[in-house]
Amino acid sequence: MTDITGKAAVVTGGGTGIGMGLAKELARRGVKVVIADIMIDNARRTAAEIVAAGGQAIAIACDVCERGAIQAMRTEAEAAFGPIQLLFANAGATCFDRLEDMTDDSVDWIVQVNMMGVLNTVRAFLPGMIAAGGGHIVATSSVAGLMPGSIPVHCVYAGAKMGIIGLMTNLAMEVERHGIRITTYCPGGVSTGMGTRNSSYRPARFGGPSDAPLQVPEESFQDNHVPFYSPESVAPIVLEAVRRNRPFVFDHAEQRETFRETYSRIIEACFDDIEAWEAEHGTPEVVGAAG
Ligand SMILES: NC(=O)c1ccc[n+]([C@@H]2O[C@H](COP(=O)([O-])OP(=O)(O)OC[C@H]3O[C@@H](n4cnc5c(N)ncnc54)[C@H](O)[C@@H]3O)[C@@H](O)[C@H]2O)c1
Repeated sequence: MTDITGKAAVVTGGGTGIGMGLAKELARRGVKVVIADIMIDNARRTAAEIVAAGGQAIAIACDVCERGAIQAMRTEAEAAFGPIQLLFANAGATCFDRLEDMTDDSVDWIVQVNMMGVLNTVRAFLPGMIAAGGGHIVATSSVAGLMPGSIPVHCVYAGAKMGIIGLMTNLAMEVERHGIRITTYCPGGVSTGMGTRNSSYRPARFGGPSDAPLQVPEESFQDNHVPFYSPESVAPIVLEAVRRNRPFVFDHAEQRETFRETYSRIIEACFDDIEAWEAEHGTPEVVGAAG
């Protein structure tokens, strides 16, 4: 979306961290911002800071794991600011437990908030954007979604974040004819305090909340000493990707090599073996064609 000034935006998880950085940057650029967050006090504080700085913002309590709550948030958001042209499906939570140690509640929470939360949010706002003839959706995935091996002991999170990439990449083809553009954001290390507050926004139905600090096993980052950037400094990078209608946005240039190695390995694993098989045995038998 080339010009966002005067438009209305919803930022889920906008009460703190990356979402807060995005909400403030949007407001600085003349966008009316709805901050939708399960932690309503944080959302209200961020909205108040935006208003005090001369911007327009409101806070709405919303758990993105609940479809009904998102629909109610959409109704309230549109009543305040009109049709929503910009959607940032950003709310998420993390977990560094080994799969064998994860409870059902933990697995369900991480999948629900990271994958279903984005899907629920997009589904709630898409009809309005289609009716209006356009819009822009930014979904926050993670570098762990595109390079799932980059953060060990993170498998359910990586799976959910990779799910967002599949969802958004495919959806982009579907909604282009409606003038809707999609950007998937893959943060690679942003200093947000997620580690200390992560358990505080775990919904009760998934065994939360609590004030337990996040336990991060040492091997998770032992070969991966990434710098963590500030939310304020990555927000303009994301909005530049929106302005240029880019399908993906990264915030760590130095991750190019890891990316290249990851995908070279995947390409070799996929194609070397099948090419060698075909060279020895011929192609598999053709019995039909799609479509
Ligand atoms: N910080 C990083 O380095 C990093 C890296 C990769 C991906 N991410 C992703 O960025 C997004 C933002 O995380 P952050 O680092 O800013 O952390 P954060 O803790 O500051 O922000 C997460 C926000 O989401 C909200 N939230 C959590 N569960 C919710 C729910 N069920 N419904 C509504 N709101 C909910 C929280 O209240 C909080 O405001 C997440 O999706 C996270 O997975 C962050």
